[in-house]
Amino acid sequence: MITFNEKNRTLKLDTPCTSYVLGIREGGFLLNLYYGQKLPDDALWPLARRHTSASFSPCDPDDPSFSQDVAPMEYPTNGRGDFRVSALSVRTGDGSSVTDLRYVSHRIFAGKPDLPGLPHLYCTDASQCETLEVTLRDPVTLVEAVLVYTVFCDCDVIAKHVRLTNRGENSVKLETALSSCLDLPSMDYDLITLWGRHAKERQLERRPLGHGLQGIQSKRGASSHSHNPFAALAQTGATETTGDVYGFNLVYSGNFTLTAEVDHNATTRVVMGICPTDFCWVLQSGESFVTPEAVLVFSSEGLGGMSRSFHTCYDAHLIRGRWKTEKRPLLINSWEAAYFDFDTDKLISFAERAKELGIEMLVMDDGWFGKRNDDTTSLGDWFINEKKLDLGRLVSSVHALGLKFGIWYEPEMISPDSELFRAHPDWCVHVPNRKPSIARQQYVLDVSRADVRENIFAQMCAVLKNYPIDYVKWDFNRNLSEAGSALLPPEQSGEFFHRFVLGTYALQDRLTREFPDLLLENCSGGGGRFDPGMLYYSPQIWTSDNTDPIERLNIQFGTSLCYPASVMGAHVSACDRTGYRTKGDVALWGTFGYELDPNKLSAEERETVKTQVCEYHKYYDLIHTGALYRLISPWENAFVCAWSFVAKDRREALVTVVRMRKQESTLFHLKLQGLDPDTVYTVEETGERYSGALLMYAGLELSDEAENDGESCKLHLIAQ
Ligand code: DGJ
Repeated sequence: MITFNEKNRTLKLDTPCTSYVLGIREGGFLLNLYYGQKLPDDALWPLARRHTSASFSPCDPDDPSFSQDVAPMEYPTNGRGDFRVSALSVRTGDGSSVTDLRYVSHRIFAGKPDLPGLPHLYCTDASQCETLEVTLRDPVTLVEAVLVYTVFCDCDVIAKHVRLTNRGENSVKLETALSSCLDLPSMDYDLITLWGRHAKERQLERRPLGHGLQGIQSKRGASSHSHNPFAALAQTGATETTGDVYGFNLVYSGNFTLTAEVDHNATTRVVMGICPTDFCWVLQSGESFVTPEAVLVFSSEGLGGMSRSFHTCYDAHLIRGRWKTEKRPLLINSWEAAYFDFDTDKLISFAERAKELGIEMLVMDDGWFGKRNDDTTSLGDWFINEKKLDLGRLVSSVHALGLKFGIWYEPEMISPDSELFRAHPDWCVHVPNRKPSIARQQYVLDVSRADVRENIFAQMCAVLKNYPIDYVKWDFNRNLSEAGSALLPPEQSGEFFHRFVLGTYALQDRLTREFPDLLLENCSGGGGRFDPGMLYYSPQIWTSDNTDPIERLNIQFGTSLCYPASVMGAHVSACDRTGYRTKGDVALWGTFGYELDPNKLSAEERETVKTQVCEYHKYYDLIHTGALYRLISPWENAFVCAWSFVAKDRREALVTVVRMRKQESTLFHLKLQGLDPDTVYTVEETGERYSGALLMYAGLELSDEAENDGESCKLHLIAQ
């Protein structure tokens, strides 16, 4: 999968359908020569190409035709004449910031190394993937960069990260240390990103590239609602099914940048990694810094192909533990049902009704600890509010009904009104001489500190070890401000944000090791930390606090650009925008559950819920292991949207159509995707039989007539 051509001085990384080619140019410059559809091994590489006008920019003294400023640099640095955005910027003790990385060596080996302390893609067997490490070094500062690439034999994904080591005698400061750079020889792309806010996460935005810098970032301490650490470059005119698309995703849950720069030669550079703003890492002699991992996908089959590569990869190489393969319990969560207003009996009544409906787990959300009856208090006091709750009786009653039991935490937060804050006021995130700002009535706990983590973990263990708890929802409900730690010396204050994220990872790592059977679901005011970093620890994430099924369509379509159905928390709630059928059909596209008071369901609604529970079981494997095809996007059609899951062997498919807004009846042809053209499929609901070819090329004739806004239907296709 990875080959070195001695004669050409090229390194070629192949995935099943793509190639990524590096060239080692004279002088030791490492260039990116190609990333795209798979190429033959004997392709010849004109290493001197793209050396168009670099007037005013320095050239290589040994070869005046070569300038870093116009070459496709694989890991560009600043200060030596590449004036585009840099991947690495290092400041040395003399105050200068010039880095010039040259090739030293490379090695290729089976398997994939771990990234210490950081989430990352993995292989269970060394034969599933191959890794290339290219070592570059600056001859003056002796800063060494090892660029690490892994390719997988079962998906069109390349994982990249960088290990930076200070081989010099004096300390240096990393002011920018990004994970990946890709230089493309054209600017004929649209930049696609997922912006959002609370209750409106991952909204798709597509804009043509223009000259200069464009992109997204987070400085909020988490990957954030505002921008997901994902972007795609779609060739101008590329669609869901056609055209070249590059996908970029960062396996990181903190501040990030994802920037595209178009230069005067109309070439495009895309970089991603930790956001350089508020970042500065001191590297002592001999120390190393490992960047988060970047995941790159190339698809020549439009956005759909890109998404399916991410999905296959994340299902196989990111999600871990028991719940990777084991069926997830269908849950009911107390939040929208009761908010803070519950006691033992009320929750037991939820469990009893849920049991009658076939629901498999009760999750007790916020409000069970300290003296918390609203959001003004008690974060950090993770002991049971015995005035409100008899947790022993609750858990045993729920288990006696045959349901699992889950509980809510927000471990990285601290309320000013808490015993923890009164005992340790310096444990909150803060900087000298400034009062920390309040958001959602809370401060942030400094989990960059080992002693703080120890305390929180011990408190969590006291509950989780004393009660048989099956599931934890891990929430995170504010951005970080006045970001600093009482323990970090001033010269290392720029390390705080990253250390905070490492602290979160350490806590989640410890929790999942200590309780390997626990099902962990991440959350952040809905989907404010929906990223691959979190998915390494929790196989599912709460997608959004917005459970309106019509608004969910946009959120779920956006989220699916990068993330598989198996990880998207999706629940039916009491929201009355549509009937229960549509709510269920939309929530089936995810880790299904309920977010309502089951005592308040009408007899008819209860029957619908029972049907949904059966459908959840019927379609679980298809949705969790099948391939997603987005058929009609709510971004492009205001009236109808549709998607389908097709089994990997193409013997079965589930098509869902939602008529978002009613209109005069018109017929339309829904062209399916991903079927076997030569197979005949029966539509279970109607008994009609069609060939896969007809369903894909002519389409299924449907009416978009609906009596009410937001009606839906499902079609189950079974191969004959
Ligand atoms: C935000 C989450 O998104 C909700 O589901 C709920 O858990 C609340 N926090 C509780 O405070």
